[in-house]
Amino acid sequence: MHLSLSKVAFTFASTAILALSSSTHCAASSEESFNITPSAGKNYTLPPLPYAYNALEPVISEQIMKLHHDKHHKAYVDGLNTALTGLSNAKDADTIASLQSALHFNSGGHINHSIFWKNMRAPREDNNKSTNGLKIDKAIKEQFGSTDKLTKLMQTRVLAIQGSGWCWLVLDPATQKLDVITLPNQDTPGMVNKVPLLGIDIWEHAFYLDYLNVKADYVTNFWKVVNWDDVNQRYENAVSKSKN
Ligand SMILES: *[C@@H]1O[C@H](CO)[C@@H](O)[C@H](O)[C@H]1NC(C)=O
Ligand SMILES: *[C@@H]1O[C@H](CO)[C@@H](O)[C@H](O)[C@H]1NC(C)=O
Ligand SMILES: *[C@@H]1O[C@H](CO)[C@@H](O)[C@H](O)[C@H]1NC(C)=O
Ligand SMILES: [Fe+2]
Repeated sequence: MHLSLSKVAFTFASTAILALSSSTHCAASSEESFNITPSAGKNYTLPPLPYAYNALEPVISEQIMKLHHDKHHKAYVDGLNTALTGLSNAKDADTIASLQSALHFNSGGHINHSIFWKNMRAPREDNNKSTNGLKIDKAIKEQFGSTDKLTKLMQTRVLAIQGSGWCWLVLDPATQKLDVITLPNQDTPGMVNKVPLLGIDIWEHAFYLDYLNVKADYVTNFWKVVNWDDVNQRYENAVSKSKN
């Protein structure tokens, strides 16, 4: 079953995972938590938060971070492992096909959240100005006019999403230009050949306990916790890989 595991996992689950691997243009060679080729007996694991659960307060509470990371992200990791285990035990194509949506959904959730945690850090007032002096600052100005205009654009786009979803700042490796995208279904940026740099999670589990139904306040406050150094590092990695 090893052959079919790696083959089918490649087809169904790993498009985005591979887009995050060092073999293609990829922001996330630093994404050490990804097992790129999980083989039988090697499950994915939940990467720890890169800071304390309460580090993002008052923008995002300890309670949300505990639930979001320990329950929701863990559920994607568990779901991915269950689906991959099912795949390695599958005896027929129908069974393999039936695992597709679970692989797609849970690998997407795992990728999204692994990036999202690192996209954030302890709040800073006037954090938009933290792009000053970074390489991405020039690209942001060229593409969007200013960091403030970029944040406003992403706010508008993320608030236009009906129900659950994500909005991403990405690099298009083909053009080397930044772009803002929102994607339907469970697609992650890697699945559409874009390198994810910064994501905003607008699923209710990301904000509801703190902001109730006032999504706009969550999205406005989000900019205080954006780790522009991380976003910039992903940008620099992606640019240098796409030049190869
Ligand atoms: C991997 O995860 C699956 C699903 O949770 C579980 O059944 C299996 O025992 C795990 N394998 C290992 C080696 O931990
Ligand atoms: C992952 O992000 C994509 C957008 O890039 C979104 O469509 C999808 O719902 C997300 N998946 C999960 C499980 O959060
Ligand atoms: C930072 O961005 C937010 C969101 O667009 C905006 O409300 C705020 O005014 C900006 N702050 C500065 C100092 O540019
Ligand atoms: Fe989430």
